[in-house]
Amino acid sequence: MSRFKLIPVSLAPGDESLSSLSPGVELGLFDANGRALGVATAWPAGWVLWFTGLSGAGKSTLSKAVAAELAAERRIEILDGDEVRTHLSKGLGFSREDRDTNVHRIAFVARLLAQHGVGVITAAISPYAETRTQVRALAEERGIPFVEVFASSSLESLVARDVKGLYKKALAGEVEHFTGVSDPYEAPESPDIRVETDRETVEQSTAKIVGVLRARGLLAPLPLTASTNGAHSHAGA
Ligand code: ADX
Repeated sequence: MSRFKLIPVSLAPGDESLSSLSPGVELGLFDANGRALGVATAWPAGWVLWFTGLSGAGKSTLSKAVAAELAAERRIEILDGDEVRTHLSKGLGFSREDRDTNVHRIAFVARLLAQHGVGVITAAISPYAETRTQVRALAEERGIPFVEVFASSSLESLVARDVKGLYKKALAGEVEHFTGVSDPYEAPESPDIRVETDRETVEQSTAKIVGVLRARGLLAPLPLTASTNGAHSHAGA
């Protein structure tokens, strides 16, 4: 890449103020002699914001709140456990093997999206620490920042709220392998962010999360990466 120069097509050659770029801006690709080779597009680098926590702990609610907060400045995609299980993971159950398969599928899609500059938010229980370590590695081996958010709530308050009525059924023995009741949940020991959803408001937790993303430099307009895919097919005379 050092033999090439990326210059915004809206700027004169020689003006290389890349820091002024907006996401999605087109870049002219020139060789060392100033010959135009093609056009590339600048996108902010993607990342994965990975929620973990018990059912009903607020993962989906906070995903949507964070996405809404960032929508104006970033392309965001949410991969929600319930939704993924309707489409991508239809037919999978709640054995350790099935949960791991589900979580790995989510991580695979998250990585693909993040590689294309999307800020990806995942919201699945993802109960096993070892599996979460694996999905972090999957992202980080491609240089994708991975931020783990633990949506923490006491079991008592989840049972008291029981939005889906599943805790009542699980406690009555009507749902097998229910996380936190009759199936394990391995809480993260050192998550990147911890939100206490039984004590904080949605606004407080959202602000905490967005604050960390911003502090880590993961929000637009920086850092930018240039994708030169197909640059040669656009090459001028
Ligand atoms: S994970 O363990 O594979 O990460 P995921 O987040 O996709 O779980 O799905 C959890 C959701 O499935 C819960 O919010 C709940 O609505 C539903 N569900 C149904 N059965 C169970 C169960 N046995 N354990 C946990 N969640 C269950």
